[in-house]
Amino acid sequence: MKNGERELSVAIEIAREAGALLKENFGKVQEVDFKGRINLVTEMDRKSERLIVDRLRKAFPGDDVWAEEGGGSRTGAERVWVVDPIDGTTNYAHEYPVFSVSIGLQVAGRMDVGVVYNPLLDDVYAARRGGGAMLNGRPRRVTQVDTLERAFLATGFAYDVTATDPERNNLGPFGRFLVRAQALRRAGSASLAIAKVGVGRTDGFWERGLHAWDMAAALVIVEEGGGKVTDYRGGPPTLEGGELVASNGPLHGPILEVLAMRGAATAAPRAGIPSETGDPPPEWAMRKYVIGFLFRGPNRVEDEKESDRLQRAHLANIARLHEEGKIILAGPFLDKTELRGVFLFDVET
Ligand code: IPD
Repeated sequence: MKNGERELSVAIEIAREAGALLKENFGKVQEVDFKGRINLVTEMDRKSERLIVDRLRKAFPGDDVWAEEGGGSRTGAERVWVVDPIDGTTNYAHEYPVFSVSIGLQVAGRMDVGVVYNPLLDDVYAARRGGGAMLNGRPRRVTQVDTLERAFLATGFAYDVTATDPERNNLGPFGRFLVRAQALRRAGSASLAIAKVGVGRTDGFWERGLHAWDMAAALVIVEEGGGKVTDYRGGPPTLEGGELVASNGPLHGPILEVLAMRGAATAAPRAGIPSETGDPPPEWAMRKYVIGFLFRGPNRVEDEKESDRLQRAHLANIARLHEEGKIILAGPFLDKTELRGVFLFDVET
């Protein structure tokens, strides 16, 4: 492949054609079959796939086609088109308006061309190796967000929801990101969610349990938009590996860190108050507190009068700090008990 220009424009044309067919039939699905307990396939997946595979074969007769519903064929050719005729089939079958057509070209093991088309919004996300990422024909780049607190992230839940390990069914990472990111989305079309990272519409994405066609095309779009794609350990992603982290670059490290925090607390730390669940707050949210006890009685001072004076001075001090907001809790300071009070300091104030 010289520069992939022809491949990209043909792929865009085919994705638009398949998308038009899907749009026309949106809300009219009648036949739904099950590939797994909750993994659907509709007659429109098959029709869309037939159209795409036929057009690709005509345009590029020597290439292999690897398509979700089994419509292609793989002979070991160097160039392989990886196709998802509807990414977001469950949405499509339920008239939930988020789905896409995804067509990517792998050359000698590397994704070189990718198109993800959202027919309902007529949005074309596209890239070819070395040509930059485009949204509707205009060059786009990833965002520059560099803290999770400001990050708009997306993910997905694979169909194998029977996995009880929260790291496998994504509930663990989801909970950890929920308390750290600005917002999380699970819209139901992985290619679309990944492609959005490449054009700067979202800041990052993670998912485990993906198929090759869910990510193939979008990988090029992220890389060409200046972003980063890896597996969960930071290594190069593979289409067969099933897991992907895609980000704008600066967020990649922080996302990998959160993914690696297996079993870490997911409870949101409440400002100024240590976790009530018994879980320690995550380290980045930790603050140091000092608990003080004030006892009645002479303590280390032998002279009772002097002791009383000192205690009154302590009490006045505590009351002032409390008023200034430097002590979070103070009380009860009853005169007739041995223990006059407990108070809690936030060391940083
Ligand atoms: C699915 C969607 C979903 C993702 C699943 C995919 P499909 O693809 O992309 O967002 O969470 O892992 O399998 O089945 O609709 O083509």
